[in-house]
Amino acid sequence: MKTEAKKRHAVLADEIRRHDHAYYVLAEPSISDPDYDRLYRELLDLEEAHPELCAADSPSQRVGGKPVSEFPEHRHAQPMMSLDNTYSFDELAEFLKRVEKRLPEAELDWTIEPKIDGLAVSLRYENGTLVVGATRGDGASGDDITGNLKTIRSLPLRLPAKVPAVLEVRGEVFMRRAGFAKLNEKRKAEGEEPFANPRNAAAGSLKMLDPKMVAERPLGIILYGLGEVNGEMPVTQKEVVDWLKQLGLPTAGKIWTGQSHADLVAAINELDIARHDFDYETDGAVIKLNDLSLREQCGATSKAPRWAIAYKYAAEQAETVLKAITIQVGRTGALTPVAELEPVLIAGSTVARATLHNEEEIQRKDIRVGDTVVIEKAGEIIPAVVEVVLEKRPKKATAFVLNKECPECKSKAAKDEGDVVWRCPNPDCAAQVRGRLEHFCARGAMDIEGGGEVLVRQLVGSGLALNVGELYKLALAEVAGLERMAEKSAQNFIDGLEASKQRDLWRLVFGLGILHVGAGVAKALCRRYATMAELLDASEEELVAIDDVGEVIAKSVHFWFGDPQNRALIEVLRKAGLNFESSIVTSSEAAGPLAGKGLVLTGTLPNLKRHEAAACIEAAGGKVIGTVSKKTDYVVAGEAAGSKLAKAEKLSVPVIDESELLRLCGE
Ligand code: IVH
Repeated sequence: MKTEAKKRHAVLADEIRRHDHAYYVLAEPSISDPDYDRLYRELLDLEEAHPELCAADSPSQRVGGKPVSEFPEHRHAQPMMSLDNTYSFDELAEFLKRVEKRLPEAELDWTIEPKIDGLAVSLRYENGTLVVGATRGDGASGDDITGNLKTIRSLPLRLPAKVPAVLEVRGEVFMRRAGFAKLNEKRKAEGEEPFANPRNAAAGSLKMLDPKMVAERPLGIILYGLGEVNGEMPVTQKEVVDWLKQLGLPTAGKIWTGQSHADLVAAINELDIARHDFDYETDGAVIKLNDLSLREQCGATSKAPRWAIAYKYAAEQAETVLKAITIQVGRTGALTPVAELEPVLIAGSTVARATLHNEEEIQRKDIRVGDTVVIEKAGEIIPAVVEVVLEKRPKKATAFVLNKECPECKSKAAKDEGDVVWRCPNPDCAAQVRGRLEHFCARGAMDIEGGGEVLVRQLVGSGLALNVGELYKLALAEVAGLERMAEKSAQNFIDGLEASKQRDLWRLVFGLGILHVGAGVAKALCRRYATMAELLDASEEELVAIDDVGEVIAKSVHFWFGDPQNRALIEVLRKAGLNFESSIVTSSEAAGPLAGKGLVLTGTLPNLKRHEAAACIEAAGGKVIGTVSKKTDYVVAGEAAGSKLAKAEKLSVPVIDESELLRLCGE
């Protein structure tokens, strides 16, 4: 039976890997969703019955990583370099001359490939299994973000047989364009600041400490190079990319080759047209010497290779007239100036509004109503006002002064010391009330169907619901009686409210809109506390002790739950029948001898590699953290341990060696 289970597991895992590759890499689905779900379910069932089958590279382990409190450091086996930039074809010609001078004997062949606007990562496969994935960091060492990278569905956790024992591949993580737009819409609906561009969104996603949350972000990856390889290597860049592709790794759709300056210019221009259809952002073309051995002869400066260069495309800009500056009031009362523009076409879309961030920014750029301004937009980036065309400034253009008054409720605006944002201080301000209700209903929070901007505006305008408690008192007839509200939509909304009563506690906690409590913090709270009652009575000290919760957050949470009005609201929600229990609570006696313990690794251990030691610790329920603090339970020190060891001694954190670690792990 056991061997049968093992065989079946291997078949299932293989089949799932194949379908994942077809779907996520080739974009050619090879199975229907329900059939795929059936295979996946069977795999999970098998692993539940036979936990030993659940290896690190099982398809089930994409989001299997546990949240960490900090990322461990990862030293790159070979440094990760950056690239020099050029902005013109003349500079490109100079670059070619420089290389030709260094390699006078050789016929030079070049590759031209997209410069992906994302984050560089290095992935280490050992015997075909993905063991470490890390950010570039300072080039010598970066953050070990293996758990986060594993959530990227197009990235294989295992490579086919017959790959070198050590194979490091390098590439770029990015956020897909369509996914980025959706994510930002959701963030706006939730009252969160949208990301300025997909690159920031990808960076923000990879920094999250909980892989489960990273898994919800639409990330992709493209591999374009190698790090350490212990085995036979291709001899050209073109072969490298073909090889990576053959191994099932996602690569750029097309790369060009050429010899002359004219060839390169043609390829760069072709790529400039093609890149608008990619599902990732590109900001240039990377030109690389094709022959890897010639590269070695060329060498590198301290930060960039001499055999490659990035040709950067100009961001798209357009001029238009700033018709007015309006003020938006967010759910926290923040007053944000918005540029109302004469509509203009840039990078394929019509732009009529652009954020101006805050008053200081407007003053710094001296932006005045009536001005002709330069708007910049690259792909999905939120349009921004770059500068004013001073020659076109009309005489009557007046400097902008933020009216220190809420445009909605006319309260006097206030600003905290050191802050640049003015806020409406009136919690009953209709704009804030609407913002809070929209946030509560948003997909990422209580996910209440129909509870969007339009309905919320009517509910608040008519006085039917002014806080989230009142939503649950609404009668069908009241909602249906609102202007332009069809009976069917009203019923959907009422059903949506009913369904929301069963949502998990973290969604409710997030939906309440407590300052500094995003979805991640809400989840952290609901992992620690099993019920709303426990959360209501949590002390500030207790809250600070939770991973992901710092002093500012703890204070804010404690303050919010201490407010009598908020407590009354919670009581209303309880009576309405909302679920107050957390299903994600992890009891503190979680499995494993190191459960709840945080360990720091430093120096070189005699037998275990760093990631092996980390795996032992995690398997024993412990967590690997990057820096030593009072909260650290143990520092595991090996040879040549440095400042971390000193810090441990200073803070009296117990220091142990490898054998002691293994003993603690129960091995
Ligand atoms: S090659 C030593 N190829 O651009 C060679 N880099 O501005 C270094 N990048 O750090 C990398 N697309 O993060 C290479 N096709 C591509 C790339 C690429 C994007 C990034 C990479 C690098 C940065 C330098």
